Amino acid sequence: MRVYRRETFNAAHRIYNPKWSDEKNSDVFGKCSNPNYHGHNYKFEICIEGPINQETGYVIDLKELKKVIQDEVCERFDHKNLNMDCVEFANIIPSAENISIVIWNLLRPHVNMDLKMSVKLWETEKNSVEYDGK
Ligand code: NI
Repeated sequence: MRVYRRETFNAAHRIYNPKWSDEKNSDVFGKCSNPNYHGHNYKFEICIEGPINQETGYVIDLKELKKVIQDEVCERFDHKNLNMDCVEFANIIPSAENISIVIWNLLRPHVNMDLKMSVKLWETEKNSVEYDGK
């Protein structure tokens, strides 16, 4: 059985590899590497998979998951510049792939290890990534 909780946050970023010249960043990443950053309305969905607890009828209590997501992800990233404001991206490029990994790592300690967890992140309506720990 799988249960899902979807949330959103708005944030700015720039795809930029500091080991490369500005010219190479521009060649590889195009507009995504514009020096003055750009924003996305990120949407993400947490999937929790496991058996139904016979005492509660739940796989996981979604109101508890909701609070953890708010505290650990939305509060941390909403209306932030991911490159400049967020220590989580001090040494990694804030691509959708890496953002989904960061979200997974932030939430994993708060979810019972008997349950599987994955994160799907939409950077735009058309582009999404999914990470389940590997
Ligand atoms: Ni972008």
